[in-house]
Amino acid sequence: MLTDTATSAAEADFEIGNYRVSDEDLPEFRDLKFENINELHIDHPGANDADYRARRDYIASCAKSFRETGEITDVEYNAREQRVWRYVAEELEELQQRYASPFYLRAKKDLGIRTDQIPQLSEMNRRLKELTGFRLAPIEGLVETRGFLSWLSYRVMLCTQYIRHHSQPAYTPEPDIVHEAIGHIPMFTNPNFADFSQFIGHGARIATDEQLEQLGRLYWFTVEFGLVEHEGDIKAYGAGLLSSFGELEHAFSDKVERRPFDLETVINHEYTYSDMQPVLYVIPSYAELKEVTRKYIESFGK
Ligand SMILES: [Fe+2]
Repeated sequence: MLTDTATSAAEADFEIGNYRVSDEDLPEFRDLKFENINELHIDHPGANDADYRARRDYIASCAKSFRETGEITDVEYNAREQRVWRYVAEELEELQQRYASPFYLRAKKDLGIRTDQIPQLSEMNRRLKELTGFRLAPIEGLVETRGFLSWLSYRVMLCTQYIRHHSQPAYTPEPDIVHEAIGHIPMFTNPNFADFSQFIGHGARIATDEQLEQLGRLYWFTVEFGLVEHEGDIKAYGAGLLSSFGELEHAFSDKVERRPFDLETVINHEYTYSDMQPVLYVIPSYAELKEVTRKYIESFGK
């Protein structure tokens, strides 16, 4: 995710209980600051592929147009991009039937996310707004942690639209449409999860640097790598799990310690990005996660 902040997203007069964010409440998307990641790193699977880089530039122009007009531009994905999606989405679908939270599986269907074509942010955004008032905003680069999380306080998720390079369909060094649409977006249809995400956003706007680091850990062990109890079983709802074959299978293997969620433990748990996660946390329900997080964020600044 994420360098300099959407400063306008840090105004103090925005109430924690404001679940209905109107268009007028939103900061200007045109002020959004992000790192340009179109200059692909030398290690990136697409770094030496001129066609891929041209596609990234075209898709970045769609996000740029959003910042100017506020309207999401549909991306005209080409046949190769659709093939990457189909391969990854089908593989994940199979694993998810075994491991994903039933809420998530239903939500994916409700949002019309299919394995045979890349979904458009415009359509998912329209459905989300109806269901929980959450919105999606296209972005082509990385936004620093505070800035990225702060947008959640407006019930806005910044989303990429490009897709990973075809040479390594199981891997992406940065979030792509697979990670966003298969990992993150379905969970925002859950009212408790949507409110919980908004609390994280509120927290990010008022957190000290130390609190921000703790919030980052909470985000990591829930939004990215969260597990949830379901009828005596454990299921995945975290985007980092749901959008990666390797992570999803690993999460349910005996190499992972699955601990009951405890806020204090989670916010102090240092993790590493690069390795598979050896410890994961299981929440009892999305409603409880929301309430624990509300109390935690309300303690900021006191
Ligand atoms: Fe993510």
